[in-house]
Amino acid sequence: MARLLLVSNRLPVTVKVDHGELHVSPSAGGLATGLKGPHQRSGGLWMGFPGDASRMDEAQRAELEARLAELQCVPIHLSPGEVSRYYEGFSNGVLWPLFHYLLDRVPLDARDWESYRRVNERFADLVAEHHREGDIVWVHDYQLALVPGMLRRRIPNARIGFFLHIPFPSSEIFRILPWRNQILDGLLGADLVGFHTLSYLRAFVASLMLVHGVEANVDRVWYEGREVRLGAFPMGIDAAAFAALADTPEVIEEARAIRKSAEGQHILLGIDRLDYTKGIPRRLLAIERLLEREPSLRGKVRLVQVTVPSRTKVEAYQDFRRQVDELVGRINGAFATVQSVPIHSLYRSFSERQLTALYKAADAMLVTPLRDGMNLVAKEFVAARTDEDGVLVLSELAGAASELGAALHVNPYDIGQVAMAMKRAITMPREERRWRMAALRGRVLAYDVHRWAQSFIDTLETQSEDTARRVTHTATPDELEKLTEEIRNERRLLVLLDYDGTLVEFEGLPENARPDEDLRALLRALAERPGTRVHVISGRTRPMLEGWLGDLPIGLSAEHGFWTRPGPQGTWTMRGHVPADWKSRFLPLLEQFVARTPGSLIEEKWASVTFHYRMADAAFGALQAKELRLHLGDLLKNAPVEVVPGDKVVEIRLLGAGSGALVPWLLRDAPQGTRVLALGDDLADEEMFAALASPHVAVHVGPGPSRAAYRLSGPAAARSLLREIARPG
Ligand code: UDP
Ligand code: G6P
Repeated sequence: MARLLLVSNRLPVTVKVDHGELHVSPSAGGLATGLKGPHQRSGGLWMGFPGDASRMDEAQRAELEARLAELQCVPIHLSPGEVSRYYEGFSNGVLWPLFHYLLDRVPLDARDWESYRRVNERFADLVAEHHREGDIVWVHDYQLALVPGMLRRRIPNARIGFFLHIPFPSSEIFRILPWRNQILDGLLGADLVGFHTLSYLRAFVASLMLVHGVEANVDRVWYEGREVRLGAFPMGIDAAAFAALADTPEVIEEARAIRKSAEGQHILLGIDRLDYTKGIPRRLLAIERLLEREPSLRGKVRLVQVTVPSRTKVEAYQDFRRQVDELVGRINGAFATVQSVPIHSLYRSFSERQLTALYKAADAMLVTPLRDGMNLVAKEFVAARTDEDGVLVLSELAGAASELGAALHVNPYDIGQVAMAMKRAITMPREERRWRMAALRGRVLAYDVHRWAQSFIDTLETQSEDTARRVTHTATPDELEKLTEEIRNERRLLVLLDYDGTLVEFEGLPENARPDEDLRALLRALAERPGTRVHVISGRTRPMLEGWLGDLPIGLSAEHGFWTRPGPQGTWTMRGHVPADWKSRFLPLLEQFVARTPGSLIEEKWASVTFHYRMADAAFGALQAKELRLHLGDLLKNAPVEVVPGDKVVEIRLLGAGSGALVPWLLRDAPQGTRVLALGDDLADEEMFAALASPHVAVHVGPGPSRAAYRLSGPAAARSLLREIARPG
């Protein structure tokens, strides 16, 4: 198994010096608690920030390094300035509220980007330093969004995964970020980008398209010559460990003690980092509403609210703590009796054992964040309920809601509804509690954190193998020079050239892409080179090719080779047979799609019909094309045609009318020992490339997947290669 290098801002342990002594404690938060198990199992390294070591002396530092080394952790030490700008300022001051849709928490003048960028560089440097051939690098969360791209530049063939633990917001929110394109570019450095839910994935795809102008095909996107996979991987917890802990005598005893202290009361439980995304104030208002509306419940309900200190130096968190404290004070003041107070607020962190006892003792767990990437607390509660009891009240805006259908779902902004859900939870009959909890446990135990990590890594491994197989290598200047030299020395050469996207740039209207004088002169010069034949194979019609290139001393193939004029001024011959009326089955459908897609058009040829949407709105056009392909698939199931998607086109063509069969046909007439140089940019050209084995040379022009051995950036680079070959001497 490959070695796993985990990279996250925070290490699973945090260190601090207290009264001259080094304290190492487990880090709070879903990322650290969740990845702990996969890290231990993999035996790899974990790189991240261990807490502020700036005031440690030499001996303490050495002890820290040793302790971390035992845990297979590699620290990255951040200066106080970096912590304040990269971590508190940009990551948690800007990205965190924005990605959780809380725009009023984003500072008026968002700064600290530069520090964020620099610290991401430092992380990339550290990973590169430890990286060995074959390792899998798995980068985590919004603090390190630029690391995949930076690492890709340092180690082009590294296997890199990225997982986002927080929501990916709608593109309307994401586009607010001044550095939106840099963030997307950074993430696309990975081979696989994972999210908790499909809806985050869809939001990411929308931003790629609308903000970055990159079109994804459902779960994959081509970017800078590589395929990047996208996937939804809902994170789980170490459910078996929680269940086992819940059944230990210590936890059973502790839970009993908690219940006893609240005798005659329903225990409601909240456990959250003290974070404004967690919906704590509205949850408190819901308790208040419940007690106002249901006087019979006064004195009978106890909310145990654990809030774990978090990001205490960030201003928004300090203000927030005051707000929570005030609310707790007000509600307790109004509803406390001599014997009890309704809200027990505990502001500190708890051990796993203590948390499990609380989960076990609660009648209902309240997980009501305003937004949450996943929320692992909800799953921990479920795993700890080996008694199949207890009710989970869950915000529909937490990622966990998409998996935990048997919870009581609430809109956390609707205080009345949350209050009613609390009442329903504490009055729910045992039988309903049981079946709901059994359903929740089924899910949480089966999809645990090990399965989550394994499925991400499996997808990443197959992805990087696929990519290695399918990605066309971009020719370096040296390789290009060597290739040019080789071809220049060939005495018998057949040059096969696609037209649109290869020799000329795409135009909105196909008829506007006529050849310029420079191109015509180039083709002539190439054809006049001794021992050289030039043949343009295009998807265009016969009259169009004849009109534009017919006077040149070259061969032409129209409609991807369906019509061919083998040499200069020869006659055109048709390869294949066109059944009468073959288009009538699908033309009405295409017309419907053109009518509802402004900017699209139909192009009809002998052996093909094409739906073009280059001039339509990019997102809408792509959506329509996808839907069209679904309909065509149904309609043309048994017809002798194929539906071929291309660059902003969907083509329906007769079977066998592609360029694949043309290549052997042209080679048959060529002198012995002829070498082929083929240039193309489109899916249609892949058939031509597939028919060419070594020593023939296939060159893909532009981005996108290809089986060709070489890649050039675009028509300008293709022309300069041809110019070099045509150059006399
Ligand atoms: N947690 C903790 N110490 C505590 C209370 C909670 O480590 O005192 C853990 C809790 O068990 C859970 C994590 O912090 O694993 C919180 O993860 P969640 O996904 O619910 O929210 P996040 O903090 O990541 O936003
Ligand atoms: C969330 C984030 C994590 C983060 C954790 C705790 O779970 O997704 O990346 O580690 O909160 O926050 P902290 O800022 O203390 O690391």
